[in-house]
Amino acid sequence: MSDTTATVLPASGVRGLVRIPGDKSISHRYAMLAAIADGTSRFHNFSAARDCFSTLDCMKALGSAWERKDYGAIEVPGRGLQLSAPTHSLDCGNSGSTMRMLSGILAGQPFTSDLFGDESLSRRPMARIMTPLIEMGAKIESFEGGRPPLRIHGGPLRAIRYRPDVASAQVKTCVLFAGLLAKGETVFEEPVRTRDHGELALHAFGVEVQQSGTLTRIKGGQKLRAIEAHVPGDLSSAAFFLCAAALFPGSEITLPGILMNPTRARLLDILMQMGLQVSVAQLEENHGELIGAIEARGAVWKGGLITGADTAALIDEIPVLAAIAPFTETGIEVRDAKELRVKESDRIAAVATNLRKMGAQVEERPDGLKIPGGQRLRGAELDSFRDHRIAMAFAIAALRAEGETTILNADAAGVSYPKFFEDLRSVVE
Ligand code: S3P
Repeated sequence: MSDTTATVLPASGVRGLVRIPGDKSISHRYAMLAAIADGTSRFHNFSAARDCFSTLDCMKALGSAWERKDYGAIEVPGRGLQLSAPTHSLDCGNSGSTMRMLSGILAGQPFTSDLFGDESLSRRPMARIMTPLIEMGAKIESFEGGRPPLRIHGGPLRAIRYRPDVASAQVKTCVLFAGLLAKGETVFEEPVRTRDHGELALHAFGVEVQQSGTLTRIKGGQKLRAIEAHVPGDLSSAAFFLCAAALFPGSEITLPGILMNPTRARLLDILMQMGLQVSVAQLEENHGELIGAIEARGAVWKGGLITGADTAALIDEIPVLAAIAPFTETGIEVRDAKELRVKESDRIAAVATNLRKMGAQVEERPDGLKIPGGQRLRGAELDSFRDHRIAMAFAIAALRAEGETTILNADAAGVSYPKFFEDLRSVVE
């Protein structure tokens, strides 16, 4: 057994309070924008995710050396719109967000940058950001088929109007960041509305961004001013504890300070439709992002269909919902989720493989999964496929299996949630 194997035993419920680390999507954006702002920004509850430290270290290589203060906050000194040329290649680690969103900033810089990532990131599609950035005037070289590593020859950019084929908040943010450095007004049209953290973060740093329906506009050349912000707890990490509560009628979980942004909170509606009892209190706002305390109580776990715009809104939570689908009354069907095949792993295949190892019946489709409910699962030896969300999703499913489950390469969880297994142990009964 490798030393990063996690063992999960069957539980009878979960109960207690978990403080979820800061949101990963927001932390990436804050770190990038802070580096091109005027003044030093300070972030409280900045994400603990390895991915966000990949972003911070890239920004450091570009002249903005972040620091952690004694009281835990992260400070990022701003360099203004122009960064300094890196003296070495930028390591994006496992983080597609880092590579895709940072490319938008690098495309507008007067120097060449090289970006690379780990084995998983090296397989992920980058053409989706290369196409608009090249149209804006950047020169970008990639490995075959638009895969990393990338070499970006930055320079003056021109504004474009762009409508991508895939619904992706990373692509939207990348184009808006490039639009900030371009001449003229860039217009981004989304096929489906995705998370709006890029727009809200730009606004927080003093940039005017206009948003109506699926159209977002930004004028180039605007200056950013440093901010002090509190990053809300990551709802996609909270999802694991909500799903754990959903598995056991009578379980109760409290998650204070969680992100309630409406472009992410569809998860709560779906969990409620499927039977979880959820209440949200202490709503507040910080730099346009809504925060609230979640109380969740397990009841009857019914199941349902996830399709269309819901699939896009829940894309990061589908692995855990699918992993616990066998324990629903009526099963869960996921459609329109082709994107899951090009995440940190092929998440459709990873979920199907692990569920089958636990003895479940699963129908795997090119763009989704159909998992019947009312099944009994047995503990098994599973693999995370070095994907953080797969490691955590199956730790939750394992709570209701019969017998012990081991998860190989479980340290992958640290990509988004380093203390996940510790926090899970603290609430399991
Ligand atoms: C993210 C957007 C989503 C999501 C990822 C984070 C973001 O990816 O899966 O974990 O922060 O914008 P896509 O933009 O590829 O949909």
